[in-house]
Amino acid sequence: MATPHIAAERGDFAPAVLMPGDPLRAKRIAETVLEDARQVNNVRGMLAYTGTVDGKPLSVMGSGMGQPSITIYATELFSQFDVERIIRVGTCGGLSPKVKVGDVVIGVGAHTESAMNVPRLPGVHFSAVASYNLVAAAAQRAGANAHVGTIISRDHFYLTPEGQNERLARYGVLGVEMEAAALYGVAAEFDKEALAVLTVSDNLLDSSEDMSSAERETLFEKALDAALAAAFC
Ligand code: ADE
Repeated sequence: MATPHIAAERGDFAPAVLMPGDPLRAKRIAETVLEDARQVNNVRGMLAYTGTVDGKPLSVMGSGMGQPSITIYATELFSQFDVERIIRVGTCGGLSPKVKVGDVVIGVGAHTESAMNVPRLPGVHFSAVASYNLVAAAAQRAGANAHVGTIISRDHFYLTPEGQNERLARYGVLGVEMEAAALYGVAAEFDKEALAVLTVSDNLLDSSEDMSSAERETLFEKALDAALAAAFC
C-alpha cells in the first residue's frame, strides 16, 4: 500500500530505519552495512533499502533536507509502514568550543526557530527531545568520541540573526542542523522513537577548522556505528 511519497508495501521496511539527508548516502550505507539489501523506494529519487545486519532487519532511507521533508517521510514510515524508530545520521555545523570538526554529536534535544512543532500543542512550547534509550545506546557505543547534548534545527541554512550562534554556544548548544526537531516531533506524535547522531562537518565560529572529504568519510563511520547501536538496542 503506497503512500504519496513511498511506493512500497507494508512489511517492506524494518522496524528500525537509519535516515541520512542525502539519498545517495542512504545508498552507500546500504551497500556497506546491509546484507541482502533490496531497494524499497525511489519516488522522487528518495532511495530506501531494506536488508539485514548480523541477521537483524534494518532499513536505510534518505530524508531530504529540512524539517518539512523529514516530517513527510517520518510521518509515512511511522503511520503506514510499522516503523518503530528512526535514527537520523547526518552532519551538523559545530557551535560549542568543545566540539571539533569530525566529532560525533548525539542530539538529546533540539531547539528550533521553525514553526513545524507549533501546531502540535497549542499554547505550549513543544520540547523536541530524543528517545532516552536510543541516546543511551548511542552514547555507550561512541564513548569518549561523542558529545551528548542539545542542538538547534534551523530552517535557514544561510540566514542567521546576528549574534545568535555565539548566544547558542553560550547556552551549550553543540551544533546546527536542519531536521532533528521536526523528527522528534513526529516521533512524539506517533509514540515512536527517534534520535539524531551527527558528525561535525564544519565549525561555525572557527572557519579555519576543516578537513578532507576522505577524513570526513572515516569520521562519519564513528557516527554510523553509534547509530547502529541505537537501531538495535
Ligand atoms: N549541517 C552541516 N553544517 C551545517 C550548517 N552550517 N548549518 C546547518 N546545517 C548544517
